[in-house]
Amino acid sequence: IFHVAGIKLANKSISIGICDFEGNLVSEYWSALPQTIYDEGELLATLTAELENATRATNLTLADLSAVGLGLAGIVDVVEGVVRWSPSLTTRNVKLRDALSQRLGKPVFIDNDANLVAKAEQYFGRGKNVSDFIVVTIENGVGMGIVLNNQLYRGTRGCGAEFGHTKVHLDGALCRCGQRGCLEAYVADYALLRELAVGTDMVGSADPAEDMAALIEAAKAGDKTANSVLDRAARMFAMGLANLVNIFDPKLIILSGERMQLDFLFADDVLASIRDIVVQVDAPPPEIIVHKWGDMMWATGAAAYAIEGLGELTLRE
Ligand code: BGC
Ligand code: NA
Ligand code: ZN
Repeated sequence: IFHVAGIKLANKSISIGICDFEGNLVSEYWSALPQTIYDEGELLATLTAELENATRATNLTLADLSAVGLGLAGIVDVVEGVVRWSPSLTTRNVKLRDALSQRLGKPVFIDNDANLVAKAEQYFGRGKNVSDFIVVTIENGVGMGIVLNNQLYRGTRGCGAEFGHTKVHLDGALCRCGQRGCLEAYVADYALLRELAVGTDMVGSADPAEDMAALIEAAKAGDKTANSVLDRAARMFAMGLANLVNIFDPKLIILSGERMQLDFLFADDVLASIRDIVVQVDAPPPEIIVHKWGDMMWATGAAAYAIEGLGELTLRE
């Protein structure tokens, strides 16, 4: 059997799915990572070491992989294989595709992480047989994948679909992109944890995922601060999604990402308020669904992208 590996590089963790050429998962690997930001050399070393671990856990070796797909946060020029900017990298314009390919001795395909979630939805998920849809992810950042006419829309410079950096506030909160007033600077995990770090002891473990889980637990238990922070974020997020509905009027919006795994009221609050704030018309609203499918889905999308890149997988119309 021929295999590919799909990688999701996340904030402080990595997920690797090894798939056959039809995109069936053969094995799943997850590992915590000690850091969130890397220079090019560190990132190459980390990806290589984790790929070795993942293949070893499956009784395979790197040599058994025909190709590798990688999704990471940030702006990726998929033609040149260059990461123009990423919150996971210390420098800009990293020629990551070719560097990793050289190191592994096999083809590598890289793209924006949320684009690959859209790809996974297209091949294996709720986007199957839907020609136009939008995926929005929320976790440590806010990501987006736009599928129009069965194609991922990336923009002319590959900078498109950066929903997390749509502006919601003049001179607002500092975003991890370096600008102010971006949506994600109010709703992403890091934004909430930053807010809670001032004046509460709810957060502060070394693990942001653990802190987010603690925040949700506190909200469930009725903690006022936790509830108001989550409620405000839900309403801000709904505001952003309402803008998408007003601009795109899509058939389907899929909400995904680790926050959607954690939620108990967040997603409901989001869905309820979008309906209230979009332009009201006498026609059925777009379908907005929450797809609870975790990190492995991003990795599977990356694997599908690699199989596509090898010319072995194409979407059936
Ligand atoms: C980045 C996006 C990414 C998203 C989710 C945002 O901060 O700008 O490129 O898709 O986080 O990781
Ligand atoms: Na994207
Ligand atoms: Zn930003």
